[in-house]
Amino acid sequence: MPPDTGLWQRVESEAHRIFAAYHYGEIRTPILEETALFARGVGAETDIVMKEMYSFLDPLDLEQLVKKYAEIQEREAQPQRAFGAGLKDALWDVMPREQKLTLRPEATASVVRAYIEHSLYNQGGTQKLYYIGPMFRRERPQKGRYRQFYQIGAEVLGSQNPLLDVEVIEMLVLFFERVGIREYQLLINSVGCPQCRAAYLEVLRQALQDVKTTMCADCQRRADTNPLRVLDCKVEADQPIIEKLPQIIDHLDPECRQHFERVTSELQARGLVYQITPRLVRGLDYYTRTTFEITSGALGAQNAVVGGGRYDGLSEMLGGPPTPGIGFSIGQDRLILAVQAAAVLQPGNPLAVYVVWMGGATLAPASRLVRELRAQGLSVEIDYDSMKIKKAMGVANKLQARFAIIIGEGELASGKYQIKNMASGEQKELEPGGIAEYVKEKL
Ligand code: HAM
Repeated sequence: MPPDTGLWQRVESEAHRIFAAYHYGEIRTPILEETALFARGVGAETDIVMKEMYSFLDPLDLEQLVKKYAEIQEREAQPQRAFGAGLKDALWDVMPREQKLTLRPEATASVVRAYIEHSLYNQGGTQKLYYIGPMFRRERPQKGRYRQFYQIGAEVLGSQNPLLDVEVIEMLVLFFERVGIREYQLLINSVGCPQCRAAYLEVLRQALQDVKTTMCADCQRRADTNPLRVLDCKVEADQPIIEKLPQIIDHLDPECRQHFERVTSELQARGLVYQITPRLVRGLDYYTRTTFEITSGALGAQNAVVGGGRYDGLSEMLGGPPTPGIGFSIGQDRLILAVQAAAVLQPGNPLAVYVVWMGGATLAPASRLVRELRAQGLSVEIDYDSMKIKKAMGVANKLQARFAIIIGEGELASGKYQIKNMASGEQKELEPGGIAEYVKEKL
């Protein structure tokens, strides 16, 4: 709601500006996508896909649904069972892929889907795309964590060059500066490529065999299904155990190591401060090589404002040509909390002028002036109900107008209006034609 939305707009316009400077074009992907996209892209074993997606069956035609239902009943030894919780799962399994839909939990998979669908790889060079919009995850809502939240994100497709990793991070840092956030940490890691990661996962699995029974139930399961996720565990008692586990950064193959070293040395060369964080493996399966996050101390528990990294295999995973990629998403809700805490960026478009009129004959010229000032792009307010001057000035104050313009019978006669600077109290007379210029100069 206003005035907060003013701040959201300022942040978004800074984002549009910076993306334009780095030559990104905006992409708007659908909010509804096929469930299969995220299962394949984000990974069936991830928290997002397993627990957090809002998915539903869209039975395009009811007859078909009834037919499928009859088929299930026929198969089931006890038809009544199919009425229970099992029905939904049974139907889900038999319905065609294009009828299983999900409210997008993130946009990277969608962007890569669009890249493949529209053969953007035929255009040569790298494709740089950005998006701003709502995402949906099933969460227990709390400060900084919502079921519908907003991301500002960017993706670059078509280059493996580590300098692009650095450019993407540099752009983020510049954006943070522009919106006035100074207190943040850039955490960075490499999760290697599928080859060196496979070797590391074997080492990790081995190490976990000895300790997993002392860990939380989730970790015990992950130790077998997806050992990398153990490193994300937040359970206090598990932390000392996790600290001693082998680290992926020590198991990179020579190419991945070289890539990571080029990224970090170039970050250093550009004066971008980072912290290598070996446990930063990120909660999505598509990542390869560089992963990064930006956290902010101003945010308390939900302190990750940005998550990102490379995903060199994602295009192939989604049926496209081999295409390396890198990108990030800023959690806009959390970013706004940090922007508010920093208190540098202010909501845009404050009220420039409040026009006060006194006496029936003054309403028409007052309205004319309001229209002229608005046409010049100034933010102007007028009340059409007549008010005593004291009350009207109170309204101007409450609306935090920068100037009040007072038009009474006397002003009308002299052709000069009173203009009052609401902050300083300074008051002068101006001809209507000179007001726009005067106000613009003073704002
Ligand atoms: P992610 O880490 O899942 O990455 O989300 C990025 C950011 O979105 C988080 O750091 C956080 O600020 C915000 N966020 C996530 N969930 C919530 C929530 N429930 N409420 C509020 N904010 C939330 C991705 O989504 C990847 N697509 C990032 C990426 C782009 N990697 C490569 N390209």
